[in-house]
Amino acid sequence: MSELSERILQELIEKDSIDTLELAKIFEQDHQKIIGALKSIEAHGNLLIVEPQTRKYFELTPEGKLIVEKGSHEALIYKAIPENGMLQAEVNKLPNSKIGFSKALAAGWVQLDKSTGQSIVKRKTNSIEDNVQKNLILIADNKLSNISDKEKQDYKKRKLIQEVTIKSFLLKRGTEFSLTLPKLETDLTADMINSGNWKNLKFKDYNFEALGASPESGFLHPLLKVRAEFRQIFLEMGFTEMPTNNFVENSFWNFDALFQPQQHPARDAHDTFFISDPKNSTEFPSDYLERVKTVHSVGGYGSIGYRYNWKIEEAQKNLLRTHTTAVSARMLYKLANEKEFKPTKLFSIDRVFRNETLDATHLAEFHQVEGVIADYNLNLGNLIGVISEFFKKLNITQLEFKPAYNPYTEPSMEIFCFHPGLKKWIEIGNSGIFRPEMLLPMGLPENVNVIAWGLSLERPTMIKYGFNNIRDLVGPRVDLEMVQRNPLCRLDK
Ligand code: PHE
Repeated sequence: MSELSERILQELIEKDSIDTLELAKIFEQDHQKIIGALKSIEAHGNLLIVEPQTRKYFELTPEGKLIVEKGSHEALIYKAIPENGMLQAEVNKLPNSKIGFSKALAAGWVQLDKSTGQSIVKRKTNSIEDNVQKNLILIADNKLSNISDKEKQDYKKRKLIQEVTIKSFLLKRGTEFSLTLPKLETDLTADMINSGNWKNLKFKDYNFEALGASPESGFLHPLLKVRAEFRQIFLEMGFTEMPTNNFVENSFWNFDALFQPQQHPARDAHDTFFISDPKNSTEFPSDYLERVKTVHSVGGYGSIGYRYNWKIEEAQKNLLRTHTTAVSARMLYKLANEKEFKPTKLFSIDRVFRNETLDATHLAEFHQVEGVIADYNLNLGNLIGVISEFFKKLNITQLEFKPAYNPYTEPSMEIFCFHPGLKKWIEIGNSGIFRPEMLLPMGLPENVNVIAWGLSLERPTMIKYGFNNIRDLVGPRVDLEMVQRNPLCRLDK
Protein backbone atom coordinates (compact mmCIF):
# COMPACT_ATOMS: atom_id res chain seq x y z
CA MET A 1 0.00 0.00 0.00
CA SER A 2 1.32 3.37 -0.88
CA GLU A 3 2.29 5.52 2.04
CA LEU A 4 0.14 8.35 0.74
CA SER A 5 -3.04 6.25 0.76
CA GLU A 6 -2.33 5.33 4.35
CA ARG A 7 -1.81 8.96 5.33
CA ILE A 8 -5.07 9.98 3.68
CA LEU A 9 -6.97 7.37 5.72
CA GLN A 10 -5.27 8.53 8.90
CA GLU A 11 -6.40 12.12 8.32
CA LEU A 12 -9.98 10.86 8.52
CA ILE A 13 -9.64 9.38 12.00
CA GLU A 14 -10.30 12.73 13.59
CA LYS A 15 -11.88 14.76 10.84
CA ASP A 16 -15.34 13.92 9.51
CA SER A 17 -14.48 15.15 6.07
CA ILE A 18 -11.59 16.57 4.20
CA ASP A 19 -11.07 17.95 0.73
CA THR A 20 -8.37 16.56 -1.49
CA LEU A 21 -7.08 20.07 -2.12
CA GLU A 22 -6.60 20.50 1.57
CA LEU A 23 -4.77 17.18 1.72
CA ALA A 24 -2.49 18.35 -1.04
CA LYS A 25 -1.62 21.37 1.08
CA ILE A 26 -1.11 19.37 4.28
CA PHE A 27 1.05 16.73 2.64
CA GLU A 28 2.77 19.26 0.38
CA GLN A 29 2.00 17.04 -2.54
CA ASP A 30 0.76 17.61 -6.02
CA HIS A 31 -3.06 17.40 -6.09
CA GLN A 32 -2.82 14.86 -8.89
CA LYS A 33 -0.78 12.56 -6.60
CA ILE A 34 -3.51 12.73 -3.96
CA ILE A 35 -6.08 11.79 -6.62
CA GLY A 36 -3.90 8.83 -7.66
CA ALA A 37 -3.69 7.58 -4.07
CA LEU A 38 -7.42 8.12 -3.68
CA LYS A 39 -8.12 5.99 -6.76
CA SER A 40 -6.13 3.16 -5.29
CA ILE A 41 -8.07 3.41 -2.00
CA GLU A 42 -11.31 3.35 -3.98
CA ALA A 43 -10.20 0.19 -5.77
CA HIS A 44 -10.16 -1.57 -2.40
CA GLY A 45 -13.84 -1.10 -1.67
CA ASN A 46 -16.04 1.40 0.15
CA LEU A 47 -13.43 2.72 2.55
CA LEU A 48 -14.34 6.27 1.67
CA ILE A 49 -17.30 8.26 0.50
CA VAL A 50 -16.03 10.43 -2.28
CA GLU A 51 -17.97 13.52 -3.31
CA PRO A 52 -16.84 15.47 -6.33
CA GLN A 53 -16.53 19.21 -5.74
CA THR A 54 -16.14 22.07 -8.11
CA ARG A 55 -14.85 25.29 -6.72
CA LYS A 56 -14.30 28.53 -8.49
CA TYR A 57 -11.81 30.99 -7.25
CA PHE A 58 -9.98 34.02 -8.45
CA GLU A 59 -6.38 34.15 -9.36
CA LEU A 60 -4.31 37.30 -9.90
CA THR A 61 -3.05 37.99 -13.38
CA PRO A 62 0.57 39.18 -13.71
CA GLU A 63 -0.78 42.74 -13.80
CA GLY A 64 -2.80 42.07 -10.66
CA LYS A 65 0.32 40.73 -8.94
CA LEU A 66 2.20 43.88 -9.89
CA ILE A 67 -0.50 46.00 -8.26
CA VAL A 68 -0.25 43.93 -5.06
CA GLU A 69 3.44 44.70 -5.06
CA LYS A 70 3.48 48.38 -6.05
CA GLY A 71 -0.05 49.79 -5.77
CA SER A 72 -2.82 50.42 -8.28
CA HIS A 73 -2.19 52.47 -11.39
CA GLU A 74 -4.43 55.27 -10.06
CA ALA A 75 -2.63 55.36 -6.70
CA LEU A 76 0.72 55.56 -8.44
CA ILE A 77 -0.50 58.50 -10.56
CA TYR A 78 -1.81 60.24 -7.43
CA LYS A 79 1.49 59.72 -5.63
CA ALA A 80 3.44 61.06 -8.60
CA ILE A 81 1.64 64.43 -8.53
CA PRO A 82 3.62 66.97 -6.47
CA GLU A 83 2.10 69.65 -4.20
CA ASN A 84 1.64 72.27 -6.90
CA GLY A 85 0.52 69.90 -9.65
CA MET A 86 2.01 68.52 -12.84
CA LEU A 87 1.43 69.34 -16.50
CA GLN A 88 -1.02 66.87 -18.00
CA ALA A 89 1.44 66.24 -20.81
CA GLU A 90 3.96 65.11 -18.18
CA VAL A 91 1.39 62.93 -16.42
CA ASN A 92 0.71 61.25 -19.76
CA LYS A 93 4.31 60.07 -19.84
CA LEU A 94 3.96 58.12 -16.59
CA PRO A 95 3.50 54.33 -16.76
CA ASN A 96 -0.12 53.19 -17.12
CA SER A 97 -1.10 56.85 -17.11
CA LYS A 98 -4.18 56.47 -19.26
CA ILE A 99 -6.06 54.07 -17.02
CA GLY A 100 -4.44 55.42 -13.85
CA PHE A 101 -5.39 59.03 -14.55
CA SER A 102 -9.00 58.29 -15.50
CA LYS A 103 -9.50 56.07 -12.45
CA ALA A 104 -7.92 58.67 -10.15
CA LEU A 105 -10.14 61.31 -11.67
CA ALA A 106 -13.25 59.16 -11.21
CA ALA A 107 -12.27 58.43 -7.59
CA GLY A 108 -11.98 62.16 -6.94
CA TRP A 109 -8.28 61.92 -6.06
CA VAL A 110 -7.08 64.36 -8.68
CA GLN A 111 -8.49 67.21 -10.74
CA LEU A 112 -7.66 69.01 -13.93
CA ASP A 113 -6.95 72.72 -13.56
CA LYS A 114 -7.16 74.72 -16.80
CA SER A 115 -7.44 78.18 -15.21
CA THR A 116 -3.93 79.24 -16.18
CA GLY A 117 -4.49 78.27 -19.82
CA GLN A 118 -2.46 75.11 -19.30
CA SER A 119 -3.79 71.68 -18.36
CA ILE A 120 -2.41 70.98 -14.93
CA VAL A 121 -3.22 67.87 -12.89
CA LYS A 122 -3.54 68.57 -9.20
CA ARG A 123 -4.26 66.52 -6.11
CA LYS A 124 -7.80 66.94 -4.91
CA THR A 125 -7.50 65.18 -1.56
CA ASN A 126 -4.79 64.93 1.08
CA SER A 127 -4.85 61.21 1.46
CA ILE A 128 -6.12 58.23 -0.44
CA GLU A 129 -6.85 54.63 0.31
CA ASP A 130 -5.75 52.19 -2.38
CA ASN A 131 -8.71 49.82 -2.22
CA VAL A 132 -7.79 48.05 -5.43
CA GLN A 133 -4.47 47.00 -3.97
CA LYS A 134 -6.06 46.03 -0.66
CA ASN A 135 -8.75 43.96 -2.33
CA LEU A 136 -6.29 42.22 -4.62
CA ILE A 137 -4.24 41.25 -1.57
CA LEU A 138 -7.39 39.75 -0.07
CA ILE A 139 -8.18 37.92 -3.29
CA ALA A 140 -4.67 36.51 -3.40
CA ASP A 141 -5.26 35.15 0.10
CA ASN A 142 -8.61 33.77 -1.02
CA LYS A 143 -10.47 36.05 1.44
CA LEU A 144 -13.33 37.13 -0.76
CA SER A 145 -16.09 37.91 1.77
CA ASN A 146 -15.40 41.67 2.00
CA ILE A 147 -15.31 42.23 -1.71
CA SER A 148 -18.47 43.04 -3.60
CA ASP A 149 -19.43 41.27 -6.78
CA LYS A 150 -19.30 44.58 -8.57
CA GLU A 151 -15.70 45.04 -7.56
CA LYS A 152 -14.82 41.52 -8.64
CA GLN A 153 -16.46 42.09 -12.01
CA ASP A 154 -14.54 45.34 -12.36
CA TYR A 155 -11.19 43.68 -11.61
CA LYS A 156 -12.03 40.93 -14.01
CA LYS A 157 -12.78 43.47 -16.70
CA ARG A 158 -9.53 45.25 -15.95
CA LYS A 159 -7.82 41.86 -16.32
CA LEU A 160 -6.33 42.04 -12.85
CA ILE A 161 -7.91 38.75 -11.81
CA GLN A 162 -9.24 35.69 -13.58
CA GLU A 163 -11.64 33.03 -12.50
CA VAL A 164 -10.40 29.45 -12.32
CA THR A 165 -12.43 26.36 -11.70
CA ILE A 166 -10.89 23.63 -9.68
CA LYS A 167 -12.22 20.16 -9.21
CA SER A 168 -11.51 18.21 -6.09
CA PHE A 169 -13.12 15.54 -3.93
CA LEU A 170 -14.57 15.74 -0.48
CA LEU A 171 -13.69 12.60 1.45
CA LYS A 172 -15.66 11.04 4.30
CA ARG A 173 -15.40 7.71 6.06
CA GLY A 174 -17.21 4.97 4.18
CA THR A 175 -18.92 1.79 5.35
CA GLU A 176 -15.73 -0.23 5.01
CA PHE A 177 -13.46 2.42 6.46
CA SER A 178 -10.19 1.08 7.80
CA LEU A 179 -6.69 2.33 8.25
CA THR A 180 -5.12 -0.30 6.12
CA LEU A 181 -6.01 -1.40 2.65
CA PRO A 182 -7.08 -5.02 2.41
CA LYS A 183 -4.88 -7.10 0.10
CA LEU A 184 -6.60 -7.55 -3.22
CA GLU A 185 -6.38 -10.85 -5.03
CA THR A 186 -5.46 -10.69 -8.67
CA ASP A 187 -5.86 -14.37 -9.47
CA LEU A 188 -8.69 -16.78 -8.82
CA THR A 189 -6.98 -20.07 -8.06
CA ALA A 190 -8.24 -23.66 -7.95
CA ASP A 191 -7.47 -23.69 -4.21
CA MET A 192 -9.74 -20.72 -3.55
CA ILE A 193 -12.56 -22.43 -5.39
CA ASN A 194 -12.06 -25.80 -3.67
CA SER A 195 -11.90 -24.33 -0.20
CA GLY A 196 -14.70 -21.86 -0.86
CA ASN A 197 -12.39 -19.18 0.49
CA TRP A 198 -12.97 -17.03 -2.61
CA LYS A 199 -16.15 -15.78 -0.95
CA ASN A 200 -14.14 -14.04 1.77
CA LEU A 201 -11.53 -12.55 -0.48
CA LYS A 202 -11.46 -9.22 -2.22
CA PHE A 203 -10.55 -9.22 -5.87
CA LYS A 204 -8.94 -6.45 -7.75
CA ASP A 205 -11.18 -4.81 -10.33
CA TYR A 206 -10.23 -4.79 -13.94
CA ASN A 207 -8.92 -1.43 -15.02
CA PHE A 208 -10.36 -1.00 -18.45
CA GLU A 209 -8.94 2.47 -18.65
CA ALA A 210 -5.33 1.36 -18.30
CA LEU A 211 -3.33 2.46 -21.29
CA GLY A 212 -1.36 -0.74 -21.54
CA ALA A 213 2.15 -1.21 -22.80
CA SER A 214 2.73 -0.20 -26.37
CA PRO A 215 3.65 -3.33 -28.27
CA GLU A 216 7.17 -3.66 -29.56
CA SER A 217 7.04 -3.98 -33.28
CA GLY A 218 9.45 -4.29 -36.12
CA PHE A 219 9.95 -1.90 -38.99
CA LEU A 220 10.88 -2.64 -42.54
CA HIS A 221 14.13 -1.24 -43.84
CA PRO A 222 13.76 0.88 -47.00
CA LEU A 223 15.54 -1.79 -49.04
CA LEU A 224 12.92 -4.32 -48.00
CA LYS A 225 10.13 -1.94 -48.90
CA VAL A 226 11.53 -1.26 -52.34
CA ARG A 227 12.17 -4.98 -52.77
CA ALA A 228 8.50 -5.65 -52.02
CA GLU A 229 7.51 -3.19 -54.75
CA PHE A 230 9.82 -4.80 -57.30
CA ARG A 231 8.58 -8.22 -56.37
CA GLN A 232 5.01 -7.03 -56.83
CA ILE A 233 5.78 -5.73 -60.29
CA PHE A 234 7.40 -9.02 -61.35
CA LEU A 235 4.48 -10.99 -59.99
CA GLU A 236 2.02 -8.76 -61.83
CA MET A 237 3.95 -9.47 -65.02
CA GLY A 238 3.70 -13.22 -64.47
CA PHE A 239 7.24 -13.94 -63.29
CA THR A 240 8.13 -16.63 -60.76
CA GLU A 241 10.73 -15.99 -58.05
CA MET A 242 13.94 -18.00 -58.19
CA PRO A 243 15.39 -19.59 -55.04
CA THR A 244 18.34 -17.36 -54.24
CA ASN A 245 19.16 -18.62 -50.76
CA ASN A 246 22.79 -19.47 -51.47
CA PHE A 247 25.29 -16.68 -51.08
CA VAL A 248 28.12 -19.18 -51.53
CA GLU A 249 28.43 -20.37 -55.09
CA ASN A 250 31.19 -21.95 -57.06
CA SER A 251 33.02 -20.49 -60.02
CA PHE A 252 31.42 -23.02 -62.33
CA TRP A 253 27.91 -21.60 -61.93
CA ASN A 254 28.99 -18.05 -61.29
CA PHE A 255 31.34 -17.83 -64.29
CA ASP A 256 31.95 -20.93 -66.41
CA ALA A 257 28.31 -21.79 -67.04
CA LEU A 258 27.92 -18.18 -68.15
CA PHE A 259 30.65 -18.57 -70.76
CA GLN A 260 32.91 -16.26 -68.83
CA PRO A 261 36.50 -17.24 -69.66
CA GLN A 262 38.66 -18.39 -66.77
CA GLN A 263 41.17 -15.61 -67.27
CA HIS A 264 38.44 -12.96 -67.28
CA PRO A 265 39.50 -10.07 -65.02
CA ALA A 266 36.22 -10.21 -63.03
CA ARG A 267 37.32 -13.55 -61.64
CA ASP A 268 40.37 -11.97 -60.15
CA ALA A 269 40.46 -11.89 -56.36
CA HIS A 270 40.30 -8.12 -56.61
CA ASP A 271 36.71 -8.35 -57.77
CA THR A 272 35.62 -11.65 -56.29
CA PHE A 273 35.59 -12.88 -52.72
CA PHE A 274 36.85 -16.45 -52.84
CA ILE A 275 36.03 -18.83 -50.02
CA SER A 276 38.95 -20.47 -48.24
CA ASP A 277 37.01 -23.10 -46.33
CA PRO A 278 35.62 -25.09 -48.03
CA LYS A 279 37.78 -23.95 -50.87
CA ASN A 280 36.28 -26.08 -53.61
CA SER A 281 33.07 -27.60 -54.85
CA THR A 282 33.24 -31.10 -56.20
CA GLU A 283 29.80 -31.96 -57.42
CA PHE A 284 28.87 -30.90 -60.91
CA PRO A 285 26.63 -32.43 -63.56
CA SER A 286 29.44 -34.19 -65.39
CA ASP A 287 28.03 -34.27 -68.94
CA TYR A 288 27.16 -30.63 -68.75
CA LEU A 289 30.56 -29.80 -67.28
CA GLU A 290 32.21 -31.52 -70.23
CA ARG A 291 30.14 -29.49 -72.68
CA VAL A 292 31.02 -26.25 -70.86
CA LYS A 293 34.68 -27.19 -70.95
CA THR A 294 34.43 -27.91 -74.68
CA VAL A 295 32.64 -24.71 -75.59
CA HIS A 296 35.24 -22.67 -73.69
CA SER A 297 38.29 -24.45 -75.00
CA VAL A 298 37.45 -25.47 -78.57
CA GLY A 299 33.99 -24.06 -79.23
CA GLY A 300 30.93 -25.69 -80.69
CA TYR A 301 27.34 -24.82 -81.59
CA GLY A 302 28.73 -22.66 -84.36
CA SER A 303 31.21 -20.87 -82.07
CA ILE A 304 34.98 -21.09 -82.12
CA GLY A 305 35.14 -20.75 -78.35
CA TYR A 306 37.85 -18.93 -76.41
CA ARG A 307 40.55 -21.48 -77.30
CA TYR A 308 42.35 -21.83 -74.02
CA ASN A 309 43.14 -24.64 -71.67
CA TRP A 310 39.99 -24.81 -69.49
CA LYS A 311 40.75 -26.17 -66.02
CA ILE A 312 38.33 -27.82 -63.66
CA GLU A 313 40.36 -26.48 -60.71
CA GLU A 314 39.36 -22.96 -61.64
CA ALA A 315 35.68 -23.94 -61.95
CA GLN A 316 35.72 -25.63 -58.55
CA LYS A 317 36.69 -22.56 -56.59
CA ASN A 318 34.05 -21.46 -54.12
CA LEU A 319 33.14 -17.80 -53.90
CA LEU A 320 30.49 -15.39 -52.73
CA ARG A 321 28.29 -15.03 -55.79
CA THR A 322 29.11 -11.87 -57.69
CA HIS A 323 25.75 -11.70 -59.43
CA THR A 324 22.35 -13.35 -59.24
CA THR A 325 22.85 -14.46 -62.84
CA ALA A 326 24.54 -17.49 -61.25
CA VAL A 327 21.14 -18.46 -59.92
CA SER A 328 19.59 -17.78 -63.31
CA ALA A 329 22.14 -20.15 -64.86
CA ARG A 330 21.21 -22.93 -62.44
CA MET A 331 17.52 -22.35 -63.16
CA LEU A 332 18.02 -22.37 -66.93
CA TYR A 333 20.01 -25.60 -66.68
CA LYS A 334 17.13 -27.09 -64.71
CA LEU A 335 14.68 -25.82 -67.27
CA ALA A 336 16.72 -27.35 -70.10
CA ASN A 337 16.51 -30.70 -68.38
CA GLU A 338 12.76 -30.78 -68.06
CA LYS A 339 11.07 -33.34 -70.30
CA GLU A 340 9.50 -30.67 -72.39
CA PHE A 341 10.54 -27.04 -72.73
CA LYS A 342 7.98 -24.55 -71.45
CA PRO A 343 8.33 -20.78 -71.87
CA THR A 344 9.33 -19.43 -68.50
CA LYS A 345 9.60 -16.06 -66.78
CA LEU A 346 11.78 -15.89 -63.69
CA PHE A 347 12.99 -13.16 -61.37
CA SER A 348 15.19 -12.76 -58.34
CA ILE A 349 16.03 -10.02 -55.87
CA ASP A 350 18.88 -10.86 -53.56
CA ARG A 351 22.33 -10.13 -52.32
CA VAL A 352 25.58 -10.32 -54.26
CA PHE A 353 29.17 -9.61 -53.25
CA ARG A 354 32.02 -7.82 -54.97
CA ASN A 355 35.40 -6.89 -53.66
CA GLU A 356 35.01 -3.28 -54.69
CA THR A 357 36.60 -0.08 -53.49
CA LEU A 358 34.10 1.33 -51.02
CA ASP A 359 32.79 4.81 -51.60
CA ALA A 360 29.61 6.84 -51.20
CA THR A 361 27.70 4.66 -53.64
CA HIS A 362 29.52 1.32 -53.50
CA LEU A 363 29.70 -1.33 -50.84
CA ALA A 364 31.21 -4.80 -51.03
CA GLU A 365 27.74 -6.23 -51.05
CA PHE A 366 24.51 -5.12 -52.60
CA HIS A 367 21.27 -6.48 -54.01
CA GLN A 368 20.50 -7.31 -57.58
CA VAL A 369 17.11 -7.36 -59.21
CA GLU A 370 17.06 -9.68 -62.19
CA GLY A 371 14.45 -10.72 -64.71
CA VAL A 372 14.84 -13.65 -67.12
CA ILE A 373 12.54 -14.82 -69.91
CA ALA A 374 13.04 -18.01 -71.87
CA ASP A 375 10.84 -18.48 -74.90
CA TYR A 376 10.94 -19.39 -78.57
CA ASN A 377 12.50 -16.89 -80.95
CA LEU A 378 12.91 -13.96 -78.62
CA ASN A 379 14.84 -11.03 -80.01
CA LEU A 380 16.17 -7.63 -79.06
CA GLY A 381 12.74 -6.07 -79.71
CA ASN A 382 11.24 -8.38 -77.10
CA LEU A 383 13.98 -7.42 -74.64
CA ILE A 384 13.47 -3.68 -75.17
CA GLY A 385 9.71 -4.19 -74.98
CA VAL A 386 9.73 -6.08 -71.70
CA ILE A 387 12.26 -3.73 -70.11
CA SER A 388 10.11 -0.76 -71.15
CA GLU A 389 7.05 -2.39 -69.67
CA PHE A 390 8.92 -3.19 -66.47
CA PHE A 391 10.21 0.33 -65.99
CA LYS A 392 6.87 1.83 -66.95
CA LYS A 393 5.51 0.15 -63.84
CA LEU A 394 8.14 2.10 -61.90
CA ASN A 395 6.93 5.25 -63.63
CA ILE A 396 10.16 5.43 -65.61
CA THR A 397 9.24 6.06 -69.23
CA GLN A 398 12.26 7.77 -70.74
CA LEU A 399 14.69 4.97 -71.50
CA GLU A 400 17.82 4.80 -73.62
CA PHE A 401 19.85 1.73 -74.46
CA LYS A 402 23.57 1.69 -75.02
CA PRO A 403 25.54 -1.20 -76.51
CA ALA A 404 27.60 -2.93 -73.85
CA TYR A 405 29.55 -6.09 -73.28
CA ASN A 406 28.91 -9.09 -71.06
CA PRO A 407 30.66 -12.39 -71.69
CA TYR A 408 27.30 -14.19 -71.48
CA THR A 409 25.02 -11.93 -73.54
CA GLU A 410 25.06 -10.85 -77.16
CA PRO A 411 23.88 -8.29 -77.86
CA SER A 412 24.18 -6.56 -74.50
CA MET A 413 22.69 -3.22 -73.56
CA GLU A 414 23.13 -0.86 -70.69
CA ILE A 415 19.86 0.75 -69.66
CA PHE A 416 19.73 4.48 -68.99
CA CYS A 417 16.78 6.45 -67.75
CA PHE A 418 16.09 10.14 -67.45
CA HIS A 419 15.64 11.13 -63.85
CA PRO A 420 13.36 14.19 -63.74
CA GLY A 421 14.37 15.00 -60.16
CA LEU A 422 18.11 14.84 -60.78
CA LYS A 423 17.51 16.20 -64.30
CA LYS A 424 19.96 13.83 -65.93
CA TRP A 425 20.32 10.47 -67.60
CA ILE A 426 21.50 7.82 -65.20
CA GLU A 427 22.52 4.24 -65.77
CA ILE A 428 20.06 1.92 -64.09
CA GLY A 429 20.67 -1.52 -65.47
CA ASN A 430 22.30 -3.99 -67.74
CA SER A 431 20.68 -6.46 -70.08
CA GLY A 432 21.11 -8.77 -73.03
CA ILE A 433 20.26 -11.96 -74.85
CA PHE A 434 22.10 -14.94 -73.42
CA ARG A 435 24.65 -16.39 -75.83
CA PRO A 436 24.14 -19.77 -77.53
CA GLU A 437 27.50 -20.77 -75.99
CA MET A 438 25.76 -20.52 -72.62
CA LEU A 439 22.34 -21.97 -73.45
CA LEU A 440 23.06 -24.78 -75.90
CA PRO A 441 25.48 -26.71 -73.62
CA MET A 442 22.68 -26.68 -71.02
CA GLY A 443 20.47 -28.47 -73.51
CA LEU A 444 17.92 -25.79 -74.31
CA PRO A 445 16.31 -26.14 -77.78
CA GLU A 446 18.08 -24.17 -80.51
CA ASN A 447 15.10 -21.96 -81.27
CA VAL A 448 14.74 -20.92 -77.64
CA ASN A 449 16.22 -17.58 -76.64
CA VAL A 450 16.65 -16.15 -73.19
CA ILE A 451 16.49 -12.43 -72.59
CA ALA A 452 17.45 -10.94 -69.24
CA TRP A 453 18.12 -7.73 -67.41
CA GLY A 454 19.44 -6.74 -64.07
CA LEU A 455 19.71 -3.72 -61.83
CA SER A 456 20.70 -2.95 -58.30
CA LEU A 457 18.14 -2.55 -55.54
CA GLU A 458 20.20 0.08 -53.71
CA ARG A 459 20.24 2.65 -56.46
CA PRO A 460 16.49 3.11 -56.87
CA THR A 461 16.13 2.95 -53.07
CA MET A 462 18.66 5.73 -52.58
CA ILE A 463 16.90 7.85 -55.19
CA LYS A 464 13.46 7.08 -53.77
CA TYR A 465 14.41 7.84 -50.15
CA GLY A 466 16.88 10.61 -50.93
CA PHE A 467 20.13 9.12 -49.65
CA ASN A 468 23.39 10.42 -51.03
CA ASN A 469 25.58 8.03 -49.12
CA ILE A 470 24.99 4.31 -49.23
CA ARG A 471 26.36 4.05 -45.70
CA ASP A 472 23.24 5.82 -44.46
CA LEU A 473 21.25 2.97 -45.95
CA VAL A 474 23.40 -0.08 -45.18
CA GLY A 475 25.87 -0.82 -42.43
CA PRO A 476 26.69 0.28 -38.87
CA ARG A 477 26.00 3.96 -39.52
CA VAL A 478 22.34 3.37 -40.31
CA ASP A 479 20.07 5.43 -38.10
CA LEU A 480 17.52 3.00 -36.71
CA GLU A 481 15.06 5.81 -36.18
CA MET A 482 15.26 6.48 -39.89
CA VAL A 483 14.12 2.90 -40.44
CA GLN A 484 11.17 3.46 -38.11
CA ARG A 485 10.22 6.83 -39.49
CA ASN A 486 10.51 6.45 -43.22
CA PRO A 487 7.27 6.13 -45.12
CA LEU A 488 5.84 3.23 -47.02
CA CYS A 489 7.40 2.71 -50.38
CA ARG A 490 5.05 3.79 -53.11
CA LEU A 491 6.74 3.97 -56.45
CA ASP A 492 4.70 6.71 -58.11
CA LYS A 493 2.78 4.69 -60.60
N1 PHE B 1 24.67 -10.00 -64.23
C1 PHE B 1 24.74 -8.66 -64.71
C2 PHE B 1 25.49 -7.80 -63.69
O1 PHE B 1 25.93 -8.31 -62.71
C3 PHE B 1 23.43 -8.06 -64.98
C4 PHE B 1 22.78 -8.76 -66.15
C5 PHE B 1 21.75 -9.61 -65.89
C6 PHE B 1 23.19 -8.52 -67.42
C7 PHE B 1 21.12 -10.24 -66.93
C8 PHE B 1 22.59 -9.15 -68.48
C9 PHE B 1 21.55 -10.00 -68.21
O2 PHE B 1 25.63 -6.60 -63.85
